[in-house]
Amino acid sequence: MRQSFAQITSIVSQYQHYWRQDPFHQVVSQQIQWRQENPALYQWLQTLTASDIASLKENLAQCVTQLEPFLPGIIALHQSIQLATVEQTDVTALPRGLDSGIPGRKLEQIKQMSSACLHHHHGNEWLEWCSGKGFLGRLLAAQSGQKVTSFEYQQALCEAGQIEADKRALPMTFVQGDAFSDEANHVFNGRQHAVALHACGDLHIELIQYSVKHQLSALTLSPCCYHLIRGNEYQPLSKAARATHFPLSKQELRIPLQETVTGGERVRRHREQEMVFRLGFDALCRENHLCEGYMPVPSLKKSQLSDGFRALCEWAAANKSLSLPDVNFDHYERLGYERYWQMEALSLVQGVFRRPLEVWLAMDKVLYLEEQGYQVRLTTFCDSQTTPRNLLIHASYKQ
Ligand SMILES: C[S@@+](CC[C@H](N)C(=O)[O-])C[C@H]1O[C@@H](n2cnc3c(N)ncnc32)[C@H](O)[C@@H]1O
Repeated sequence: MRQSFAQITSIVSQYQHYWRQDPFHQVVSQQIQWRQENPALYQWLQTLTASDIASLKENLAQCVTQLEPFLPGIIALHQSIQLATVEQTDVTALPRGLDSGIPGRKLEQIKQMSSACLHHHHGNEWLEWCSGKGFLGRLLAAQSGQKVTSFEYQQALCEAGQIEADKRALPMTFVQGDAFSDEANHVFNGRQHAVALHACGDLHIELIQYSVKHQLSALTLSPCCYHLIRGNEYQPLSKAARATHFPLSKQELRIPLQETVTGGERVRRHREQEMVFRLGFDALCRENHLCEGYMPVPSLKKSQLSDGFRALCEWAAANKSLSLPDVNFDHYERLGYERYWQMEALSLVQGVFRRPLEVWLAMDKVLYLEEQGYQVRLTTFCDSQTTPRNLLIHASYKQ
């Protein structure tokens, strides 16, 4: 693990100009930090058609292969982040009604995560961290018969979860509390196996630190939303990561999340329409001297997208107290499309660093837990179609 971590750090740092800069801002500023040092890559991106770009976006392995001549070492980087799938206890036959109220894709994630937790169970009770309504805890309580404490901030979710658990006579207790307050310490004890499905940024970091402090028997977590942290930069946990001087801003911590695999065609189309509008409106403003640098436009409702490009420009101009000159809106919409495909081509480059960055963040936690006396594995718990946030860190305390 230490060796792979060093290898990932080295190559991801070497290519940092290629992923730190956001493709949207590369297009609006027309400044691409790597362009001079790698003109061949820039030229190759120019040759790609919209359909080439769309198909490379869908096929990461192919994209990595095609980029290797321009970014030597990128194939090796991806080889070093290949992860096994976690072993699972087969629990396909859930007791009747146990899954009620759990949305489809969430249910699949929870089934796989609970199977992994059961397979690698240590301790004799569970702590479900930032539990929401406690879907995962419900499966664990039903399948292990052991006590579950579900810790959650939102009172309404605690109440809804408790009602469901009581209906089924499950040994679950919801505790309302704030993960960041000292009182959270009271829910921990050394007999527990803590579990957290999709605990955001600082919430999963907090769990790791509490688990170490209270020497929990085991910990199984799938991280998500790395950018939801209280500071401005990622604070590495492990000695190895702290020694790297590898800063990651909040904006850069969003990079691993920029995948729309589970969004489907509608989400993809909405994103395209919104970006075409933003990039077309930016071109209109610049060419007509309405602004100098990039002027951020507030977020818009999905329902506005069907109003068309001109109506969106009028809405944005009113919002910014600008009066629009009489322009050819079709021209700027076409420019918006061209710039959109430039952005998508540039995002292929950033895209090949997404998963390595995500694995780097997870490895930092793995190394930290190892330093603290845990035996740790980093795996995936489901395929990326079920959720792209499919990394699983499992740690058990070495007695
Ligand atoms: C992404 S959701 C995950 C919920 C659940 N684990 C699941 O996968 O369905 C994150 C949960 O963390 C809870 N949360 C946010 N901030 C919290 C805090 N400071 N303390 C405790 N829970 C918190 C939210 O209310 C939310 O239910």
